[in-house]
Amino acid sequence: MEFIELRSDTCTLPTKEMRQAMAAAEVGDDVYGEDPTVNALEELSADIMGKEAALFLASGTMANLVAILTHCRRGEEIILEADSHIYYYECGGLSALAGAFPRPLPGKRGFISPEQLQQALRPPDIHFPATTLLCLENTHNRGGGSVLSVEKTEELAAIAHRAGLKVHLDGARIFNAALALDVDVKKLAAPVDSVMFCLSKGLSAPAGSILAGSREFIEEARRQRKLVGGGMRQAGILAAAGLVALNKMRERLHEDHEHAQLLAAALEEGGQFRVEKPETNIINVWLPAGKDLNAFIENCRQKGLLITARGPGSFRLVTNRHIGKGEVKKAVSILYSALNEL
Ligand SMILES: Cc1ncc(COP(=O)(O)O)c(C=O)c1O
Repeated sequence: MEFIELRSDTCTLPTKEMRQAMAAAEVGDDVYGEDPTVNALEELSADIMGKEAALFLASGTMANLVAILTHCRRGEEIILEADSHIYYYECGGLSALAGAFPRPLPGKRGFISPEQLQQALRPPDIHFPATTLLCLENTHNRGGGSVLSVEKTEELAAIAHRAGLKVHLDGARIFNAALALDVDVKKLAAPVDSVMFCLSKGLSAPAGSILAGSREFIEEARRQRKLVGGGMRQAGILAAAGLVALNKMRERLHEDHEHAQLLAAALEEGGQFRVEKPETNIINVWLPAGKDLNAFIENCRQKGLLITARGPGSFRLVTNRHIGKGEVKKAVSILYSALNEL
C-alpha cells in the first residue's frame, strides 16, 4: 500500500538532483579538512546564517549535543523550555553525555517569556550551579511549528548575554521560521552565539545538520564532534545533497505551510477534532475526549495514512514535499473515517 506520510518532514526522500550530485561529488578525508564538498557546504552555511564558520554533522541531535559540549562544562546549568527538543527528545544527552544540568521552564507553544528568563537567573551563590547557556528553538517542534520573532529572539538573547550566558538556537527548521516571518534567516541567527539547522527535514537531504557560530567556537566544536565519534571521512557524498538542499529546496517550504493551512482548516471544519492553528508545517491535533489514540493511529495506518502521537489524546501532522492538495484531501477523509470507526 502506498502511504500518505504525515508523521514527519524527516521522511522526505532525496531528490533526483541530490542523488546525481551525490554520485558525482568530489570527496576527500573530512577529518583532515580535505573534503572539498563538505568545505563548500560549510562555507555556504556560514554565509547563509551570517556567522564566521560552520560545521557539518551527522544529525540535529549530534549538532545540539556538540554545541552544548562546546559551550558548557560538566555541572553547569542550561536554561531551556520544558517541551524543547533538546530536553524532551534527545535521550537526556545534555546530562548523560555533556554532564549539564537542565533547568526546564514551561513555555507557551514552546516559548518562555523574558520575565520567566529573568526570574530563572540565579544570583551568585556557592550553593548554585553556574548557569552558562540558554537554548532556544525556532520553529518549535512540540509547539506545533510555532515561530519565535526576531524581536523576541533579540530580547531573550540580550537578557541571557547581560547575565553572562551564551545562547544556542536549535533551528532545525529555521528556514520555515524565516519564511513564515518573511525575514532573512541571518536576522534570526544574529542574536545567538550558535545556531543549528537540519538539511534532512523539509529540505529533503538524506542526512546531515549544520552548526554555525564564531570561528573560535566552530574550531572547538570540531574537536567535540570528534569526541562523540562524529568525524566522518568522505562525507562529501552527503554534503553534496546538503548543497542541493540549501540551493534549491528552501523556497519550496512555503508549499508545506500552505498545505498545513488547508489541512488544518479542513479538519477543523468537521468539528470533531481540536486543531491548533499552524504557523508553519506542523499541526497539533487533539481527539475528542475518551477516544483511544493508539487505536485511532492504527485505524489511520490501515487506511493508508501515517501519523504520530505527541501526548495523551493528541497527535501531530507534518506537511512535507510528498504532500500535495490531493494528499491533504485524502488525509482529511481518512482521519474522519478512522475517528468514526473508534
Ligand atoms: C527541533 C528539533 N531539533 C532537533 C532535532 C533532531 O534532529 P535529528 O533527527 O537529525 O537528530 C529535531 C528532529 O526532529 C527537531 O525537530
